[in-house]
Amino acid sequence: MTGDLVSPSATGPRVILGVSGGIAAYKACELLRLLTESGHSVRVVPTAAALEFVGAATWAALSGQPVTSDVWTDVEQVPHVRLGQTADLVVVAPATADLLARAVAGRADDLLTATLLTARCPVLFAPAMHTEMWEHPATQANVRTLRERGVVVLEPAVGRLTGADSGRGRLPDPEEIYAACVLLLERGQQPLDLLGRHVVISAGGTREPLDPVRFLGNRSSGRQGYALAQTAISRGAEVTLISANVGLRDPAGAKIIRVGTAEEMRTAMTEAAADADAVVMAAAVADFRPAVRADRKIKKSAADPEPVTLVRNPDVLVELVAHRRRPDQIIVGFAAETDDVLANGRAKLAAKGCDLLVVNEVGERRAFETPDNAATILGRDGSVTDVPLRTKESLAHAVWDLVAERLPRR
Ligand code: CTP
Repeated sequence: MTGDLVSPSATGPRVILGVSGGIAAYKACELLRLLTESGHSVRVVPTAAALEFVGAATWAALSGQPVTSDVWTDVEQVPHVRLGQTADLVVVAPATADLLARAVAGRADDLLTATLLTARCPVLFAPAMHTEMWEHPATQANVRTLRERGVVVLEPAVGRLTGADSGRGRLPDPEEIYAACVLLLERGQQPLDLLGRHVVISAGGTREPLDPVRFLGNRSSGRQGYALAQTAISRGAEVTLISANVGLRDPAGAKIIRVGTAEEMRTAMTEAAADADAVVMAAAVADFRPAVRADRKIKKSAADPEPVTLVRNPDVLVELVAHRRRPDQIIVGFAAETDDVLANGRAKLAAKGCDLLVVNEVGERRAFETPDNAATILGRDGSVTDVPLRTKESLAHAVWDLVAERLPRR
């Protein structure tokens, strides 16, 4: 095998893809493809156990680079030190319980653990294992330690595991791990300023049922809320995402709670916000709901359709502010306005009492269902931050910059 540490043709960021020995190793092939096809130079470092699941030939062919697990190959190039030193990102997917334990212990008995010890770039772990192993106090302690050391450890997804069982422990979708890699690479050496912080984000739009098949809803796609979740994870936060009727893929690493109505949103937010450092209400919550929900579908043949009577829903944001469980909790609201945008925004900030209000102009082709967004972020302290049109991820970073500044120092 040749000793090139990086492929001569690759010019993009240098990524080390560590793969440990779990059945989800096959999904790392898809992650590898996404990385190489977008111009990254990827060196795959599987553990010996990973090679029981996917062979070296597959990794070598897909990456165009040599593949070794031990520290005894190409010794003259000192790969056990150089790979980590020269990488822009190390991502381990899947990370097994055993790999997490070895990383915490600082072992260096194979190429992947040696690389983890020498890496000075951002490091991302995407654990995958059975629920019992994930929940075991030993694994949870290892995850805490890694996070304290500045490693981004994604929360595993919930779903089907190997065999018939299902639960938390699934590897997130490769596309979403890829998105997390891109965000971490963009941040580069910037500190993980949300490390150890729990943030709760609502996303999407509530639906208020009229009958079993119809509802009153709105056009929120959930993209801005999901971008807030992805970017918070890339800054080290533990993220709970309360998601109302969103058709997007789950962001890798967030704990997702799905809700339908404003009432369900209120219950989920109140519970999740109790111990949160920051809360962001990005969801479009219906202000009203039909007073009556028909048990059966309202038929066209009904002679005179009944007018729909509406009753008011709770204002979740106002309630969160009024019952703030921690005085230092930062609460962020969004304002969707079609006219007199700033004046309405200022009035809304005063009425809602939150710390920051992200004021959006909305309309047919503005803000809703688009990849871009522009906003003015108003602070209760009088600050005004203009964020010109940019990606929703970039706007999300601007929100987190302001939140991070306001969080109490530790
Ligand atoms: N919000 C909420 N509960 C509601 C309505 C809104 O928590 N029942 C939150 C939204 O999540 C957002 C903020 O309040 O963070 C402002 O929402 P917006 O729709 O702009 O304002 P409304 O309060 O609904 O007022 P209006 O529709 O009159 O502009």
